[in-house]
Amino acid sequence: MKILSIESSCDETAVAVVENGSCILSNVVYSQIDIHKQYGGVVPEVAARSHIEAIIPAVDEALIQSGCSWEEIDAIAVTNAPGLSGSLLIGTLTARTLAKLKNKPLYPIHHVEAHVYANFLTDQKNGNLTLPAKQPEFPMLALIVSGGHSQLVLFKNHGDYILLGQTQDDAVGEAFDKVAKIIGLPYPGGPSISKLAPTGNENAYGFPIAKVKGEYNFSFSGLKTAVLRKAQEIIGKDHTFASHQIAKHLSKKQQADIAASFQKTAIKTLLKKTVLAYQNYMPKSVVIAGGVAANQLLRSELKKSIEINIEYAPISLCTDNAAMVGALAYFYSKEMPPVNPDDVEIFPSISMTKTAWNKKHTD
Ligand code: KG4
Ligand code: ZN
Repeated sequence: MKILSIESSCDETAVAVVENGSCILSNVVYSQIDIHKQYGGVVPEVAARSHIEAIIPAVDEALIQSGCSWEEIDAIAVTNAPGLSGSLLIGTLTARTLAKLKNKPLYPIHHVEAHVYANFLTDQKNGNLTLPAKQPEFPMLALIVSGGHSQLVLFKNHGDYILLGQTQDDAVGEAFDKVAKIIGLPYPGGPSISKLAPTGNENAYGFPIAKVKGEYNFSFSGLKTAVLRKAQEIIGKDHTFASHQIAKHLSKKQQADIAASFQKTAIKTLLKKTVLAYQNYMPKSVVIAGGVAANQLLRSELKKSIEINIEYAPISLCTDNAAMVGALAYFYSKEMPPVNPDDVEIFPSISMTKTAWNKKHTD
């Protein structure tokens, strides 16, 4: 089954063709990072306008790269939740229109759940990605860490999962982005911090791991504030000193030391809860998903902390893409009916545990 999938929930316009939930036939990602960099973060209106310009060329390119004609495409999938409303709308309306014009079944897909399915992509037609040798087995523990989410989810099977814990405030990717801004590193903050951190001393500053209610819950807003206070202290200012003025007073060494010390604490926080969940549930596989899963320290430390072999998805499939949407849509389509294109709505803030598929298993 070949699925053409569309992803436009934030600042990447992405279209892919994926066969049987595992083989990437094409994977086109038009990133808007260079456009949003000048603003220090994603500007929703600018993102939506860029999606409008990029989406049809992305569909065309994904089809050409896959070598498939429209006749060979069996279904269309689209991210309809969660994300920025304007961004979600462009992808969803495009998918609805194509489904009607080309007379294809249409499957609405949850973005956060789709991140997990980057780990199910084990084969490719044209690319040169280093992919896992096999798909993860159930029960599967997933640490989902992105710009908007930090969750530990236990999957008993496809569509059948429970949320073990989640962040009580900021997502970990958001903390990376905010700390990067404070110390003057470019957007997006995660890659900037992880690039600079190895040049700094991770023990230079001691940041605390937040204590939160709930065994598997996280909190990152205190860590972000602790970094802000430490940066103000380092440059000899008090807590009233504006955060956007701090960076120009920091030396290169101080910047690198803060990046390293922050990253160490953020990753330690994620590892602590993930290892605890692993020990308590003893899943057959552990996966990490979402943009922060691209973090090298997280990848290397998790491998050291868990006895079972972990196969990571390549970095380019951890950040937003449509191949992960196509992978999930295959398994989704085996259990759930397609939706009438006229009825596909967007849900900017729905949790993955509230989707119809998960409810079917857990209610
Ligand atoms: O999954 P994603 O591409 O978009 C969302 O769905 O949010 O995740 C983006 C997030 C950003 O916060 C970015 O700073 C973070 O992932 N990120 C990283 C790294 N690469 C991207 N965080 C830490 N280390 C990285 N190497
Ligand atoms: Zn994402």
